[in-house]
Amino acid sequence: MAQTTEGAAAERAERPGSAPLPKGFRSAQAGWPELRRIPHPPGRVPLLGDVFGANVSTPVQDSMRFARSLGPIFRRKAFTKEIVFVAGARLGADMADESRFAKHVGLGVANLRPVAGDGLFTAYNHEPNWQLAHDILAPGFNRDAMAGYHRLMLDVAARLTERWDERERAGVAVDVPGDMTKLTLETIARTGFGHDFGSFERERPHPFVTAMVGTLAFAQRRNVVPGALAPLLLREASRRNDADMAYLNRTVDEVVAARRAESGGGELNDLLDRMLEVAHPETGERLTAENIRRQVITFLVAGHETTSGALSFALHYLARHPDVLARAQDEVDRVWAGKDEPAYEDVAKLRYLRRVLDESLRLWPTAPAFAREARQDTELGGEHPMRRGAWALVLTMMLHRDPEAWGPDPEAFDPDRFDPKAVRSRPAHVFKPFGTGARACIGRQFALHEATLVLGLLLRRYDLHGDPEYRLRVAERLTLMPEGLTLNLSRRATLDV
Ligand code: HEM
Repeated sequence: MAQTTEGAAAERAERPGSAPLPKGFRSAQAGWPELRRIPHPPGRVPLLGDVFGANVSTPVQDSMRFARSLGPIFRRKAFTKEIVFVAGARLGADMADESRFAKHVGLGVANLRPVAGDGLFTAYNHEPNWQLAHDILAPGFNRDAMAGYHRLMLDVAARLTERWDERERAGVAVDVPGDMTKLTLETIARTGFGHDFGSFERERPHPFVTAMVGTLAFAQRRNVVPGALAPLLLREASRRNDADMAYLNRTVDEVVAARRAESGGGELNDLLDRMLEVAHPETGERLTAENIRRQVITFLVAGHETTSGALSFALHYLARHPDVLARAQDEVDRVWAGKDEPAYEDVAKLRYLRRVLDESLRLWPTAPAFAREARQDTELGGEHPMRRGAWALVLTMMLHRDPEAWGPDPEAFDPDRFDPKAVRSRPAHVFKPFGTGARACIGRQFALHEATLVLGLLLRRYDLHGDPEYRLRVAERLTLMPEGLTLNLSRRATLDV
């Protein structure tokens, strides 16, 4: 492993113009003077911390449980590391105040630094490559760019429906998360980098996906294993992680080399063209070869895993709620009537289907948490003092289930929560599946367009039949994904598309 989490954080902890922040992992004791007022789970064990009720494979779902018993703010300790969690909508909204808080690169995000470095997702706020890459790449997500990706998105979706037609004819259930991952990986690879992983031609996941899942899972495990014990407990896992990272780097280097070998036509067709060709409009600076490698990995990973989960959860809920499914199918049939293929602007017209997606992301935001740090000494919610650099992990799915913001039955799946009147009646900053502020998701429109388009195409073509015995299980590997979700399909009789 090239660089430890603590090492990376230490190296980057300083901000220009202010006194250096403490080096390494910043435990809550240092930053929260009134920490004792914040509850923690019962049965804390000296030296070990809050080990009861903690499962290394499900840290997010453990935290959800703790939030339910401990309230809108609580803390958990594992060995020497103590972390504050924010689960309440009011405190979460306060943390969205960009004048007082910023993204904190810690925990799982910091653990990804060895592979993603100062790529957009893992960059520290003050690293010059964040602003440079942001300014160069943001136009790659504007309306014109998105309209250009639409054709490729349709092509990839056609590969999925070919495969699902075969399954349907054979009377075999489809593996939803597996196929959604194939779809979203192909989509970002083709639209962003002109690369074809051939996912649909393989029965097993592409080795890029296996290596990526390995890296994400390792980053999650590093959160729960204390630094001093990591060399011992994670020796084998760390070796595998090195191999996974080497594979990711090799794959990306091949993609970039292939593009460089093509004669540059000066056209900016995708993200890779932008990375290679575009200079910053004001400073004239360009991304370095090393940084491009980091960005390509970042986009290949960030650009598919979360969207795949979002599509999978949405399909699960659609199959579970026949009334919602029927209403969404009715909308697609009406809005796309007479069109073989929806045009770019037809996708945003599926308003109800978009609410289904939002409601799925409310209950299971597939990037389930984001960390925020105080820019200066402040008080969270007017009651919890924080020193500059102190930070908390915002548990998005609990923010999204706070009855104060979402009413008395927040666990119920109800897409009408997102009709415009209902949205207007809620306070600001209570729906944050894409994070918040300057460091919010750059690919939000891309993800929403892709997911709405694909759901529209699937609902127009198939009826979905879930296994009545299936109980939702959620796998965690920094992101969330339904586990073991399969659906049976039947082609809809009314349509010939
Ligand atoms: C449903 C799908 C998606 C979800 C739920 C999601 C969620 C998020 C969240 C919560 C963040 C902020 C993380 C933080 O504060 O630490 C983020 C950042 C980011 N996302 Fe997404 N994302 C999705 C799809 C995508 C796609 C499709 C792309 C690329 C095409 C993408 C690229 C990124 C990048 C590069 C960042 C870092 C932005 C920055 O810091 O400047 N994401 N995403």
